[in-house]
Amino acid sequence: MRTDTSPIPALNPELAGRVAVVTGAAQGMGAVFMEELARRDIHVVGGDLDGDRMAAVAEKVEGVGMRMDVTDPADHDALLARALDAYGRVDFWINNAGVFPQAEFTEIPPDQLTSTYQVNVNGVAYGGQTAARHMRDHGGGVIVNMASVAGVRVRVTRAAYNSSKAAVRHLTSCMAVELGPYGIRVNAIAPGFIDTEMTRWVQEDPVALERALTTVPLRRIGAPVEVFGALYFLLSDSARYVTGAVLPVDGGSQHV
Ligand SMILES: NC(=O)c1ccc[n+]([C@@H]2O[C@H](COP(=O)([O-])OP(=O)(O)OC[C@H]3O[C@@H](n4cnc5c(N)ncnc54)[C@H](O)[C@@H]3O)[C@@H](O)[C@H]2O)c1
Repeated sequence: MRTDTSPIPALNPELAGRVAVVTGAAQGMGAVFMEELARRDIHVVGGDLDGDRMAAVAEKVEGVGMRMDVTDPADHDALLARALDAYGRVDFWINNAGVFPQAEFTEIPPDQLTSTYQVNVNGVAYGGQTAARHMRDHGGGVIVNMASVAGVRVRVTRAAYNSSKAAVRHLTSCMAVELGPYGIRVNAIAPGFIDTEMTRWVQEDPVALERALTTVPLRRIGAPVEVFGALYFLLSDSARYVTGAVLPVDGGSQHV
């Protein structure tokens, strides 16, 4: 079955004019989130390590782009400041940046563990802190963290990544409980096998691809726009009583 990239039809006109910050927004799902949000008249502010690519995405969607590193708390504050400068408020914060390193468990170098947790876990926590301090003082907001099916299902040679995404799931619960009283909803999305640079190596190896698809009941790779569908729901007022949830967008992979 082919990847379905047709547009997501959901309509939530109440979101027009709101402001979203997306990390890791220079490519992959983050860039698609920028495009799809902008298409719905939501103001977008993206941050990424790759400043040039980030600027190109921002220009395309008539939003704001900035080079930043999610492992540095000060960079999150700078990203917030850029958003406030441009649009005067921040309603949505999407902690999307992530890295996906590989190594057999016995060979994982210490710096792989450190850097993976720095980006995938600390990056989410720092972004959440920056967003929550602002939202707490401005009537609430919505934070969405990118987890993964790998947070519940083992992907071999990915122990650092798998465990970092398991941490994102629990961090999401912690944030939801502490921030709920301020009107801040915090949810996570757990994508499965999605068509981005992160999964290009599998897609280019027919044997690996066939093996990977045996773990997907829908027997196809997901499109970034299909992950956007879940994000859009979680940001919208349709999800106003949803917090602390981890929404799988994985073609059923979490069950295999
Ligand atoms: N693609 C998948 O199949 C898949 C599956 C499950 C979860 N995810 C998660 O979804 C998110 C997006 O994945 P993707 O496939 O679009 O990845 P991607 O590799 O295509 O893009 C990730 C982006 O994050 C940026 N980034 C990395 N480290 C950063 C840092 N320290 N500071 C700022 N930006 C940084 C990169 O420059 C890149 O633009 C990640 O958190 C990933 O773990 C992806």
